[in-house]
Amino acid sequence: MPPFLPPSGLPTLSAAVPTRLIKLCRTAEVPHGRPITVIHAGLPRIVVFRVDEKFFAAVDRCSHGNARLSDGAQSQGLIYCPLHGGAFDIATGRAVAPPCRTPIKTLPVVVQAECIYVETVATSPGSII
Ligand code: FES
Repeated sequence: MPPFLPPSGLPTLSAAVPTRLIKLCRTAEVPHGRPITVIHAGLPRIVVFRVDEKFFAAVDRCSHGNARLSDGAQSQGLIYCPLHGGAFDIATGRAVAPPCRTPIKTLPVVVQAECIYVETVATSPGSII
């Protein structure tokens, strides 16, 4: 059976999923090279990074164990876990140093008017895309 392809002109699934933006913090609150934690009702604990002038967010938990990445050391686009020293690429979440092998959950970020927002599924308040 051939794969299902939507007819041209129809929106893709991602475009059709309603989303909403939740404000995490102001850009000025995120220092260069030092992640911050954001706690927002209905969301998991989130870590926000500034790499050069770009901002990234992820769930604030190492994929290897019970450690907060916001307590780790940030260097050259990587975040190092404070517990065992594993590392992740901040932009992609990819594990880049052992013992970490599983990526962390990165979150889609939107920056508007000097504020950082995370994009969530509108129909489920606690769901993060
Ligand atoms: Fe993060 Fe082990 S808990 S590397």
